[in-house]
Order: sequence, then structure tokens, then C-alpha cells
Amino acid sequence: MSESEDDKLILCVGMCVLDIIHVCEQYPQEDTDKRCLRGHWQRGGNASNNCTVLRQLGSNCEFLGVISAAKSFQYINDDCRERGISNANCPQVEKNPPFSSVILNLETHSRTIIHCNDNFPILRYDDFKRVNLDKYKWIHFEGRNPDETTRMIERIIDYNRETKSSIKISMELEKMKEELLVLANAVDYVFLGKDISMHLGWKKAKEAVHQLRNRIDNKRCIIICTWGAEGCTILDEKDHFEHVPAYPPEKIVDTLGAGDTFCAAVIHFLSKGRTVRDSVELGNKVAGFKLSAFGYDHIG
Ligand code: FRU
Repeated sequence: MSESEDDKLILCVGMCVLDIIHVCEQYPQEDTDKRCLRGHWQRGGNASNNCTVLRQLGSNCEFLGVISAAKSFQYINDDCRERGISNANCPQVEKNPPFSSVILNLETHSRTIIHCNDNFPILRYDDFKRVNLDKYKWIHFEGRNPDETTRMIERIIDYNRETKSSIKISMELEKMKEELLVLANAVDYVFLGKDISMHLGWKKAKEAVHQLRNRIDNKRCIIICTWGAEGCTILDEKDHFEHVPAYPPEKIVDTLGAGDTFCAAVIHFLSKGRTVRDSVELGNKVAGFKLSAFGYDHIG
């Protein structure tokens, strides 16, 4: 990759939310009044977390999604600015942002997310078309809203053809909605999650990558499927299959955003020219390390 190409940004398209995190000894019983061991809040949302990790690893990136202009949530925008994550192209609305109450259970290491999204608008094609694509080398999408997102992908493909550019496109398929599968049709990389795979009846990571390939028109994308402690599977553009083990730390502390960390790390290493196998292996290592402390600041 030439130097000017390397100066270009990775754009992550999706949601930015506030995560309010309760660290509990055990999962609380319903209708009890309990104290948690500790708590904190942080900027969250898959694409927003991707940006946090990309910056920690040293990649230049930008977040694109609808953000809240509400004064009480200025913290979220300040945090982006302090970390060097551009959000200059984000449309703003005067509504409070979506937020998640998160229970981290130290006994089982589960993270339970209760997400509250009171009809907060999501990014439309009309917002995306205002963005100057010259600045980017990679555009990653948090898979949602298939009709609008398909138009965004088509715009990138047209741009690549007309300008002889090669912006890479990746898609995270995580939400448990079958209608999202069409979003895998025209991208270079697909990050397929365990939850959506199980929802579709695909019981193992190996089965999931093959099933996805059969369900989509895209025979050349690289499919990467994460399966928690069982590691990842890869089905490359030649349908060569590989399994890559997970690297859990000795002590697991915080599992929130581990999948987002993995995606960001894989994109980071791929965009630096590493092979798919190496990038996934390094992605697993970074995601494993993420689990060893709260938040993302220890990464990088
Ligand atoms: C983690 C996360 C949280 C957010 C939730 C939204 O992957 O992005 O930061 O609250 O998922 O579903």
C-alpha cells in the first residue's frame, strides 16, 4: 500500500450509545435491592467501540452515525474528540442518545445488555451520500437497516469503479435478524456472529461460514465467524476453511465489547497488509487481552 493510501481513514458506520455498567458479584435476583461492586459509564455501540479499539491500535478512523446533540450527553462527543476519533460527518439530533444498562457478572463472566433505543434515528443513505469517499481506505458497517445500507454499499462500489479506487468494505452481521444476510452480498469481508448464526439454526462456527456462503450471492467475500471461547472460523474467497483458536486471559474481567474489539483488530491488521489468517489470529489475541481489564484503555 502506498504511503498516501496508508494515511487514509477507516470509517465505521453504525451506532453510538452510552453504556452504564454495573459490575456484580452474581447476577441479581428479580425484585431485590442490591449494590454492585463498582460501576462506570463509557461510550459504546458496536461501530463506536470499533473506533475506540482502532485508535488504541494506532489506526486513524472516523465514526459515522447519528449522534445526540443533547447537552447532558456531551460526554460522548468529548470522548470521541479526546481519543482522536472524528465524528465530523455525523448528523446530530436533539434527542437523548440510546443507552444500555449492562450487568457484568463476575461469577460467570457474562455481560447482560439491556438496550434502550427510544426511536433514535439511524443513519440514512442521504446522510451517507454527503460524505466525501476520497478520505477512506476501508468502510466497515454494523449490519442494520438493509435497504439504506445496501444503497451505501452500492455508492462505494460505484466510487471504486469510477475512480479506480479500492476502498475495502466489511460488514458485521451480529443482530439476530435474517433479513440482514443480504448485506453480505457485495462486501469484501463479513464478520458473522454466534448469536445470529444460532438464531438461523447454524450450530457450529464451521457450519455457519459454509451456510452463509450458500445463502448469499457473494462467492468471493471472506467470511469470519466468531464463536466465543471456541475461537473463530474463516472461509476465504477460494472456500478454503480454517479454524483459529481463542486466546482467553488467565482471569476474565470484562466481556463487554469483546466482539467489537475483535472486528476492529482484524480490520486494523488487514488494512496494514497482514494476511487473513494472521489478522484473525492477532484479532483473537487482542480480543483475549481486552477481556483481562475493564473497558478498552489497556489495549495497544
Ligand atoms: C457491545 C455494544 C455495547 C452496546 C451494545 C449495543 O457490543 O456495542 O457497547 O451497549 O452492544 O447493542
